[in-house]
Amino acid sequence: MQLPSVLVLNGPNLNLLGTREPAVYGSETLDDVARMCREAGQRLNLEIDFRQSNAEHQLIDWLHESRTTVDGIVINPAAYTHTSVALADALSAIAKPVIEVHISNVHQREAFRHHSFVSAVASGIIVGCGTQGYVLALERMATLLAKSSAGSSVKKGA
Ligand code: DQA
Repeated sequence: MQLPSVLVLNGPNLNLLGTREPAVYGSETLDDVARMCREAGQRLNLEIDFRQSNAEHQLIDWLHESRTTVDGIVINPAAYTHTSVALADALSAIAKPVIEVHISNVHQREAFRHHSFVSAVASGIIVGCGTQGYVLALERMATLLAKSSAGSSVKKGA
């Protein structure tokens, strides 16, 4: 039996996790986060495809490619959260459940971080839970995908 597949996408500067502003983002590296996601995937019976890019077009190209191959998307769009209509449009276009993750509590930070273009197209949002947010997002995704395979609509996170 083929497992449901989840693309875990990371935006710019997240490759520097562990050394980048540890007081804000913690000391785990992106490799640690990838390992946590793969372990959660094993436990939740999800196939995990974990990627990071600093380039907006690369994130969008991966989303286009995943259109027919993945069942859901967990995304930390990083700074593109607050700037990229194009990324939000790509997420809309592929019409799969999306969970948006932010390691830090963006609402406690600068005003420009309070708005997200991605949130409008996300089924759910996890903010300020540290890197554990990725695991929480995968748990929610497993629930959404189980509901969807049972025939109910999950696009709005019902
Ligand atoms: C972030 C928050 C964004 O505002 C910031 O640009 C990031 C990381 C987070 O995970 O807390 O790069 O998405």
